[in-house]
Amino acid sequence: MMNRMLAKLIFGSAVLVTGIFGLSAFASATTSTSTTDPAQVVATPSASSAKAADLAIGKTLFDENCSSCHGIDADGSSLAPSLLGGGAAMVDLWVSSGWMPLAVPTAQPSRGTDKFSRSQTIAIANYVASLKAGGLAIPTGDITGANLSLGQELFSENCAGCHTITGAGDALSGELNAPSLHGLTTTQITEAIETAPGAMPRFYPGALTKAQVRDVVAYVSKSIDHPANVGGIGLGGNGPVAEGFVGLFLGVGACLLFALWVGDRSEPDEGSEDPQREAHV
Ligand code: HEC
Ligand code: HEC
Repeated sequence: MMNRMLAKLIFGSAVLVTGIFGLSAFASATTSTSTTDPAQVVATPSASSAKAADLAIGKTLFDENCSSCHGIDADGSSLAPSLLGGGAAMVDLWVSSGWMPLAVPTAQPSRGTDKFSRSQTIAIANYVASLKAGGLAIPTGDITGANLSLGQELFSENCAGCHTITGAGDALSGELNAPSLHGLTTTQITEAIETAPGAMPRFYPGALTKAQVRDVVAYVSKSIDHPANVGGIGLGGNGPVAEGFVGLFLGVGACLLFALWVGDRSEPDEGSEDPQREAHV
């Protein structure tokens, strides 16, 4: 009897552990894939179509949120670089990635949620761009007609060295960090390649043509962000370690189930409720 109770206890905890692992795997799978649909942020007005009203909104938001560091004319200060001539695409990337506004000038920009609505961010970007010509307008992020296998080749050659082949990102030398490429919009990926933020090398114009940029963007947003899981359950692309653990726990659970089943068959079942029989066991 004790054996059976013990087996049930073990079985119960195995089910629990398997369940918890299943849940966390599911949770990580959903969080890492559902953050942003690249198709969502395709339509953005070009700088030329920005209306005066939007520029006024952009100016107000800039004055309130950015000018304390970047200067009232966006020409920089001892705290932060000038943004003049940087273009709307650069400003859009830094704000939409949550890198800006910094809380304090010495903080490291790190990925977060955009503090503004999409239209407010575009207004700020277009306002800054209107102050001085230069840089690029916010790209549409349109990837129709892109060649995914070319994109994959170009990515391995040009990007994987820093961002890793899975796009998970990696620490570079010093305090530098090549961030994860997951959960970005096609607009943001285009902006990064075309504006070369921080320590990232410049690829465009130059190393990559416009069509090649589009191929890489398509590859990053489609294949890296949503890896095809051939013959397996996607566990959020956490790599062989996490997936191996889930496999281990599912396997252990199955073994326990089997052991319980074998134990059940070898033990006479009838009369187990009988307290007298219980005393004999
Ligand atoms: C607390 C100070 C602070 C505030 C507020 C701030 N920034 Fe910055 N910003 C910085 C610093 C410092 C850097 C340089 C960071 C780096 O290179 O790592 C920077 C960098 C940038 C860059 C990149 C410039 C380049 O040439 O690489 C952009 C674009 C930018 N900020 C836009 C903005 C916008 C737009 C706002 C307002 C929504 C804003 N920032 C608010 C301090 C600030
Ligand atoms: C030498 C290393 C290096 C290479 C090569 C490189 N990057 Fe980067 N990348 C960086 C760093 C560092 C940052 C962060 C910049 C910052 O924080 O200012 C970055 C930022 C980005 C971002 C913005 C991420 C975000 O959170 O918004 C994207 C997208 C990106 N890179 C894509 C690419 C693509 C695509 C390629 C290949 C064409 C590439 N990178 C090549 C180092 C690199």
